[in-house]
Amino acid sequence: MLSKKSILDADSLSLEDIKLILSNADSFLEISRRDVKKVPTLRGKTVINMFFEPSTRTRTSFEIAAKRLSADIINFSPLTSSLKKGESIIDTLKTILSMKVDLIVIRHSDSGTVKMVDRFVDIPVINAGDGKYQHPTQALLDLYTIKKRFGKFEGLKVDIVGDFLDSRVARSDMNLFEKMGMDVTIVSPTMFLPEDFSGMKVKHCIDDVIEDADIVYMLRMQFERQDRKFYPSVMEYNRFLTMNMDRLGKMKPGSIVMHPGPVNRGIEITDEVMDTSGELAEKIVIEEQVTFGVAVRMAILYLILG
Ligand code: CP
Repeated sequence: MLSKKSILDADSLSLEDIKLILSNADSFLEISRRDVKKVPTLRGKTVINMFFEPSTRTRTSFEIAAKRLSADIINFSPLTSSLKKGESIIDTLKTILSMKVDLIVIRHSDSGTVKMVDRFVDIPVINAGDGKYQHPTQALLDLYTIKKRFGKFEGLKVDIVGDFLDSRVARSDMNLFEKMGMDVTIVSPTMFLPEDFSGMKVKHCIDDVIEDADIVYMLRMQFERQDRKFYPSVMEYNRFLTMNMDRLGKMKPGSIVMHPGPVNRGIEITDEVMDTSGELAEKIVIEEQVTFGVAVRMAILYLILG
């Protein structure tokens, strides 16, 4: 069992909860590798996916996770719901609760909406990403990916690169990475840094960290959340922050490149790096992150509902 009913942010996850989720993910990864990828663990439970913002990985991952555990999962679609007729979110939630669902997975473009929903309902709520605030299950699957590659966290050098102002993934990852004893450096131009980052280790160019890094975590440019001109141009971004073949080749043996997806090719990571094969391809763990995401979400659903 986890210490709280809901997972709303990375900050409120205890070390014990994190370790419990990661250790349980191992057995659920094994199930995902079987020929018949289904166990009856959550038979009779009903999960509802409420995604008010587009998603491929997170929504599908929760759906597959629930189905592999034999839970029933409903994909609520805001665009074809009575929200379009003016029904409020609260009245929508009341309607859903009347149907006796057991858990809500929710993504919303407004920071704080998930907490508001959690206060209103008495069933568990999982934050699948809200505005610029948090994406805790992404951070948990990122931790699990690191655990699988390195077998430890303490002392690993992780450089998080990109737009911190708009990134919910950055906020969740930084919290969990530091909690696990990793050495975190932010690589970002000043214009992508919020004011409260003054106490952090900050670099402005990826070349300053690339040779020493164990993990280079590329953040996605949050174009949909930016209300300003793109940093100052793609050419400038490429010069200081993009992962290209030259930089990939400078990384030390065993080091990895992570990205939460979806990748803006040519901005955070070049086409050549994304499509590389051979020895250097081993460093790119973006697909592993997605695979491990299902196991981590199975573990979360099991620990909350099982
Ligand atoms: N990483 C992530 O949240 O991806 P989606 O937006 O596709 O869910």
